Amino acid sequence: MFHDLQFTISDWTYFLFHAVKAIYMTDPHAVARRFVILISGRGSNMQQIIEQSRSQGWPAEFVRVIANETHAPGIEWARQQGLATAVVPHREFADRQAFDNRLAEVIEADRPDYVLLAGFMRILTPGFVAKFRNRLVNIHPSLLPAFPGLKTHEQAIAAGVGWHGCTVHFVTDQLDHGPIIAQAAVPVKPNDTPEALSERVLSVEHQIYPRAVRWLAEGRVQINQAGQVALEGVTQRHLWKDE
Ligand code: GAR
Repeated sequence: MFHDLQFTISDWTYFLFHAVKAIYMTDPHAVARRFVILISGRGSNMQQIIEQSRSQGWPAEFVRVIANETHAPGIEWARQQGLATAVVPHREFADRQAFDNRLAEVIEADRPDYVLLAGFMRILTPGFVAKFRNRLVNIHPSLLPAFPGLKTHEQAIAAGVGWHGCTVHFVTDQLDHGPIIAQAAVPVKPNDTPEALSERVLSVEHQIYPRAVRWLAEGRVQINQAGQVALEGVTQRHLWKDE
C-alpha cells in the first residue's frame, strides 16, 4: 500500500474510511453533539455547562451563545472565551412572532442538535417550540410542576413548602412544563428570604444542568411513548441537598 511513502488516492480513501468507521461505529459517544445556548442575563448556568464540559471532555460542541439583551453580562463572558456569539434584541422586532422567526433563523444556521435555554427570559411561540421539538431544553428554578412562571422562590416561601429546587426539562407549548430530565431539591429554611433560597437553588442548578447536558451530549436521553424521559445508563437523575 505504501509506495516510497507516496500516498495514493486509494491510500487516503483507506485511511478516511477507517477513521470515519472508528468514530461512528466503535464509539457512538465520540460524535460531538452540537449545542446552541440562549441567555438573557448573567449566564452562570451557561458558564458552568461550558466549563464542566471542557474539564470533563464531553462529546459536545458549543456552537453559539445567543442573547436577547445586548448588554447581557453572559454574552461578554462567552466572547472572552472565544465562543461564537450573537445578539437578537427582542425590542427591535414588531412582535413576538417576528422575533421568534429571526431567532430560529440564527439558531438553525449553526445546525444544533439541541438548544439550551439558560436563564432565557422570553416566552417562545408555539411555532418556535414546534420547530425545535424534543431538542429544546430549559432549566426552571422550581420543582415542576410546582411554581411555574416568575418569582418562584417567593412563591415557594409563601406556600410554606419544606423543599424547593430546580428542574431541567424539554420545552413544550405549556409554560414551564414538559418531559423532565433531572431535578434537584434543597430545603426551605425557617425565615428564609427569596435571595437566600435563590442562591441555594442556584448552587444545585449548577450541578444538575451540566449533568443533564452531558447526558444529552452522550446520547443517553430519549423520550418514550408515554412522553416521559428515559435515561440510558443513568441511575441518579435526582439530587437532594440537605445542608
Ligand atoms: C436561573 O436561576 C434559572 O433557573 C432562571 O433564571 C436564572 C438564570 O441565571 N430561569 C428562569 O427563571 C426561566 N424561567 P443565570 O443567567 O445565572 O444562569
